[in-house]
Amino acid sequence: MPRRTAIVTGGTRGIGRGICELFKEQDYTVVAGYAGNEEAAARFTEETGIAAKKWDVSDHEACLKAVEEISSEHGHATVIVNNAGITRDGTLKRMSYENWMDVIQTNLTSVFNMTKALWPHMVEENFGRIINISSVNGQAGQYGQVNYCAAKAGVIGMTKALAQEGARNNITANTVAPGYVETDMVAAVPENVLEKIIATVPVGRLGDPGEIARAVWFLAREDSNFITGSTISINGGQHMY
Ligand SMILES: NC(=O)c1ccc[n+]([C@@H]2O[C@H](COP(=O)([O-])OP(=O)(O)OC[C@H]3O[C@@H](n4cnc5c(N)ncnc54)[C@H](OP(=O)(O)O)[C@@H]3O)[C@@H](O)[C@H]2O)c1
Repeated sequence: MPRRTAIVTGGTRGIGRGICELFKEQDYTVVAGYAGNEEAAARFTEETGIAAKKWDVSDHEACLKAVEEISSEHGHATVIVNNAGITRDGTLKRMSYENWMDVIQTNLTSVFNMTKALWPHMVEENFGRIINISSVNGQAGQYGQVNYCAAKAGVIGMTKALAQEGARNNITANTVAPGYVETDMVAAVPENVLEKIIATVPVGRLGDPGEIARAVWFLAREDSNFITGSTISINGGQHMY
């Protein structure tokens, strides 16, 4: 198997970091993207030896430029893990237009931006693996997250359309929908709210980034070619979809 280059957006922390580490272990060339937390990115590269690159996934031009630079430094990437994401929670009544747009741009438009930039390389190589990170909240809905739920549900629909368009070029597109995983994003949830959420998880705990990473790696494999357009839920049984 040729050595593949994989881009993991939001790869320097949390779930993305878990994915990067597993891909490196599996002998991929990996590039992790991040938004601006320089300290976390420097620590990530020091501890893992994996390259970190800063660009804003919600910015279309920045994504095109980043992909071009990564291609010349590391070779054409044919595996993209669209993992970068943010929350800007609040009920509809209180949610500003800015918080709606920020989440849609960062969590959904980013998937368009990165996939669009990489698509020609995947077609040229007659191989591509697009793995989009959605969320249980995109499947089940969540109070106070109309922006996040809309974006994450959008990712699932987009993945199914991509799967149809990519099939003839050996490009698969799949979604991984995690439940609550122990990362900085979840650390921002108030403890009393989190306790109530964990009480609804049959497995009775938060997930670990490695548990998400293993599914992503499985989908990226060459011999996973018949799996496309699917959604893998990894949520400790919280929502069975
Ligand atoms: N944690 C969970 O329980 C959970 C559950 C379901 C789904 N998810 C989804 O899983 C993904 C990862 O979540 P996480 O909890 O690991 O997140 P996290 O710990 O908050 O890390 C987010 C990563 O995304 C990067 N990022 C954010 N905005 C960006 C932008 N505009 N451009 C480029 N990079 C950007 C961050 O860069 P900086 O470090 O520079 O800020 C960071 O590397 C997200 O899509 C999230 O919605 C998470």
